[in-house]
Amino acid sequence: MMMTPQRTYRIILIGFGAVGQGFAQILRDQGARIATQTGADLRLVGVATRSRGSVGDPAGINPATLLDALRHDGDLRRLPGSTSHTPHELIATLDADLLIEATATDLQSGEPATSHIRAALARNMHVVTVNKGPAALHLAALRREAAVAGCFFGFEGTVMAGTPALRLALEDLAGCEIREVRGIVNGTTNYILTQMEGGMEYGAALAEAQRLGYAEADPTGDVEGFDAAGKAAIMAAAIMDTPLHPDQVERTGISGITGMAVAEAAAAGERWKLIARVWRDASGVHASVQPTRLPATHPLAGVGGATNALTITTDLLGEVTLIGPGAGGIATGFAILSDILALHRQQ
Ligand code: HSE
Repeated sequence: MMMTPQRTYRIILIGFGAVGQGFAQILRDQGARIATQTGADLRLVGVATRSRGSVGDPAGINPATLLDALRHDGDLRRLPGSTSHTPHELIATLDADLLIEATATDLQSGEPATSHIRAALARNMHVVTVNKGPAALHLAALRREAAVAGCFFGFEGTVMAGTPALRLALEDLAGCEIREVRGIVNGTTNYILTQMEGGMEYGAALAEAQRLGYAEADPTGDVEGFDAAGKAAIMAAAIMDTPLHPDQVERTGISGITGMAVAEAAAAGERWKLIARVWRDASGVHASVQPTRLPATHPLAGVGGATNALTITTDLLGEVTLIGPGAGGIATGFAILSDILALHRQQ
């Protein structure tokens, strides 16, 4: 990578679940290398959790100390800089360059994440969100507000975690007309379906997906297809310039797919996959999320576990398919890093 001049980014991280911790692990294990390699010195100055305390320290918070405190004490309350500040108070009082929004997604209201983002932009902070609510519901407005504030607004991690699906479509395929995007965009349901093919019960597979940090705080969002519908809405807005409310996405989840249905498909040489699709036709842009039986020889049928895959159909290049991790703390923590480095390249 071309070295950009050294620059320090003072970061407030709101939300310290699987993704926030994944990002902290990346900083702990790779922060020095990233600074040397790219010139971006990433420094946490504030971390807010929902129920395990918050910390603010303008001098910087060591990510190893943060993760150790969580492991040993179960919360952050004994750390120096521990504070009872709410996320809004942290954003209002700490001097920072960048806000990371990593709280639990709410696809109905987009809150509290959207308010956190707007509060940060009002203080001229750059923003990276891995929270899907603001991107699914308010993408155009937030991009506009960030541009007016002269700030970067990154949302790469909202679709396919750190696998660069949005950047591929928006930057590398710029100049093509994108006619359709179609694929597997929810890691939890793909993990469950894959485990069920191996004979595991639905409930046990879901519990495992939760343990591995793939599932939403409320996994109904995954299994009923809401998460995939939110991602379809994000892709419609980002890639096809057409805002669709997640409720406008025709949606069926996988909770009706029984072990017997999985076995029947296998006996017929097929596999169930939860397929999200966004497409443009003469009447406009449409989106759907549907469990679909695919022949085992179909490229998407071979995508197992929490892996995601997206086929982008373009006018000039035909079909381009991207396969990669779609959920999990490190995979989504990497999306945050990738957005910050995109910002850094613009400096
Ligand atoms: N719950 C989501 C999934 C997380 O399983 O894909 C990544 O957005």
